Formats: sequence, C-alpha cells, structure tokens
Amino acid sequence: MKIVMLPIPLLLFFLFFLLSSLFDCLNAQVPIPAKIDGFVYKSTPVWGDSVVVEAFLDPLCPDSRDSWPPLKKALQYYSSRLSLIVHPFPLPYHSNAFLACRSLHIANKLNASSTYPLLEIFFKYQEKYYNAPTYKRTRASVIGDMAKMAVMALGKNSLSAFQSGFNDSQTDFAARISFKYGCSRGVTGTPFFFVNGIPLSDSVSPLDYNKWRSIIDPLVTEKEG
Ligand SMILES: *[C@@H]1O[C@H](CO)[C@@H](O)[C@H](O)[C@H]1NC(C)=O
Ligand SMILES: *[C@@H]1O[C@H](CO)[C@@H](O)[C@H](O)[C@H]1NC(C)=O
Repeated sequence: MKIVMLPIPLLLFFLFFLLSSLFDCLNAQVPIPAKIDGFVYKSTPVWGDSVVVEAFLDPLCPDSRDSWPPLKKALQYYSSRLSLIVHPFPLPYHSNAFLACRSLHIANKLNASSTYPLLEIFFKYQEKYYNAPTYKRTRASVIGDMAKMAVMALGKNSLSAFQSGFNDSQTDFAARISFKYGCSRGVTGTPFFFVNGIPLSDSVSPLDYNKWRSIIDPLVTEKEG
C-alpha cells in the first residue's frame, strides 16, 4: 500500500479550511427578533413577583396536549403568583407542526387573546393533523383546514385575514424564531419546561398537577417568607 504524503503547506491549508468552516457553523448568528419569543398567558406580568414557567409545546404533540390541563389547573390555583410563557416548538417529525405553530403566530398577530384558545383547539383536534391522516393531502388543503378551525377562536369574519397570514413573511419569520429559540435553549422534545429559567429534567414525561404543586409550592413559600 502506498501512502500519499501531502506537502505540509497543503495539509495546513486543508486543516485551516476544515476548522474555519466548523467555526462558521458554530458561530452563525441566529437572527435577533424585534420582540422576545413566546405567548404570555393572560398577560400576567412576567418579571414581577411571580414564578415564571416557560413551556415549549408542539400543538400537534400528544404529550404537549396531555401536559396542558394540569398546567392550566396550576395556573388557576396560583393565579398571579405564577406566570406562563408558551414558546411554540414544531418538532420536525410532525409534518404539519410548523404550520400549526405559524397559525398561533398568525392568531397572535390578529388578536392576541385568541392565541391560547387556538392552542386549545389544536390540542383538541390535533389527531386530524398527524402524519398518517394527512399523508396524501396538499399543504394548501391543510392550511385551508387550519384556517377554518382557527375561526373558532378568531371569529367567522377573520377567515380571509387568517388565510392571508400564511402569505405574510413576518409570521413565517416568527415561527422560525420560535424554533430557533427552542434550539438555542437546548430543547430537544416537547413538552419541555423551564421554571424561573431552570430546565426541568423530567420535562418530557407529562407533569401532573401534584408534581407542579410540589415544584412551585416551595418557591412561592420562599418568596412570601
Ligand atoms: C379576540 O379574541 C377573543 C378570544 O377568542 C375574543 O373574546 C375577542 O372578542 C376578540 N377580540 C376582537 C377585537 O375580535
Ligand atoms: C397565498 O399565496 C399562494 C401561493 O403564492 C396563492 O396561491 C394564494 O392565493 C395566496 N393566498 C392569499 C389569501 O393571499
């Protein structure tokens, strides 16, 4: 076997090229949005005295769906002592998840108070948008269907405004930012929760109400004490 030796300068050149392209990948600046990502639940102040939960949810993910009722119950229980920000996070193996997340941004832009109602509607009907039942459907027909569903939260006369939202590059950008934001926080699945900025390690299994109480009770007590 003959080993070909490259001249040292050539070798150095290749090494430099390899390292610099790797460095470029790692360093690519994520675009900075004008407004921080996420939908604030019931506009409870986030930087006040409350405990802050950030939830990364995919509207088409069954575990995200199942995690919502216990979290909602905890929000009702703690009221202003707990704030929630939902970051939509479309999982790439859910074919329609990006459209669903974009729908939330469209709704948020048209009427911010319809965002959470629409998220709940997605959770309720998400099975329609799973991979298998939409396998043979076009993107346009899925969007048309989502628009019809969205008017349940937005009101009947917003159908055309909602549909045009899918042609608005701002909503596309917003949904991309949501995804990139999740990646930048190390999110790899949904649901994924942070409490006061700290990741919950067992996030991905649905947290029940008692678990939320056991996490939040001590924090609230500490604040009041
Ligand atoms: C915005 O959406 C909420 C929730 O669906 C609804 O109650 C409210 O009437 C809407 N506001 C407008 C201006 O359409
Ligand atoms: C959105 O864009 C598509 C493709 O470019 C076009 O066919 C459709 O009519 C547009 N829809 C609206 C509501 O503007």
